[in-house]
Amino acid sequence: MQILQCENLTKIYRNKKQTVRAADNISFSIKKGELVGLLGPNGAGKTTTIKCLCRLLNPTSGKIHIDGFDVIKNPRIAYEKAAAVLEGNRNIYWRMSTKENLKLFAGLQGYSYKQVKNKIEELVEIFGLQEKISTEARFLSRGMQQKLAIACALIKNTKILFLDEPTLGLDVEAIYEVRNLLKGKISSEGKTIFLSSHNMGVVEDVCKRVIIINHGKIVADEEIKKIKELFRVNTYRFEIEGKIGEQIKKEFLKRFLGVRFSTDESKTEIIIDLKDSIRIYEVLEILKKRGVKLLNIQNIEPDFEEIYLELVKREK
Ligand SMILES: Nc1ncnc2c1ncn2[C@@H]1O[C@H](COP(=O)(O)OP(=O)(O)OP(=O)(O)O)[C@@H](O)[C@H]1O
Ligand SMILES: [Mg+2]
Repeated sequence: MQILQCENLTKIYRNKKQTVRAADNISFSIKKGELVGLLGPNGAGKTTTIKCLCRLLNPTSGKIHIDGFDVIKNPRIAYEKAAAVLEGNRNIYWRMSTKENLKLFAGLQGYSYKQVKNKIEELVEIFGLQEKISTEARFLSRGMQQKLAIACALIKNTKILFLDEPTLGLDVEAIYEVRNLLKGKISSEGKTIFLSSHNMGVVEDVCKRVIIINHGKIVADEEIKKIKELFRVNTYRFEIEGKIGEQIKKEFLKRFLGVRFSTDESKTEIIIDLKDSIRIYEVLEILKKRGVKLLNIQNIEPDFEEIYLELVKREK
């Protein structure tokens, strides 16, 4: 079942000086329980898209349904059905304490303190905010505020969660905690997550599918696994003993496209992109013929970050 349907979403910002098409005819849907990442360079339209989806912004045109409800006609439903953590502009109240904020967000959703007491304790512990339970949000560190913002979104206990840059400003340990929390506990509860991030590790780790946007348009919408397969040229690293002779170098360059060499004192690395892995035997043959000692062969995995950069560049 689809929990989110977004059809032809367009958001145009207009002021006296210029018109910006921040979201340009964006269409996609998300199934219940899916973990979807939203990637794109600065200014691509990620925050605009997420703000429109949770109806903090009024789209210029398009249709959005959350859990079957038309949230363009009825923005209130979006506030009830979805929880959001937004970049910069945090959802928490500065003059309320950690605990008061959590109680408030649960209360807005109709939960009594008794119903959520254990959950609050659990979240406070997960995010290491025990010592700051009575501290006003404005006196928390930036990272702690971000953690509290995520905790407040979680306490709402909605089916869908929008997270815009949830790990921004967090330290390595906290990023690790948030990552584990999202991909472990939260996803096992069957929640749907739509998450934007510049941290590829977080997206790759938490999400199965990724939507890449640039200049307000969708460039790719695919499972991360499939994107990687699509871009798979089998890259192999052959490590040989000693320096490589000029003759062998020439032979490699003549017979293969995309060959790189790097030599240090005792060994040389020959890196080759092979569309067809059967050609490994050709490489081995050349090395054998020339009496070169092979130390090691390795298949190098395609890197998701490189693929992403390639996709964005192509679109440009
Ligand atoms: N309130 C606004 N008024 C006018 N233009 C805006 C406004 N908010 C965003 N924009 C423009 O819309 C485009 C998309 O901005 P948006 O914040 O959605 O990008 P983003 O993908 O979230 O970028 P980042 O990775 O830097 O957070 C940019 O060109 C931006 O300058
Ligand atoms: Mg943004």
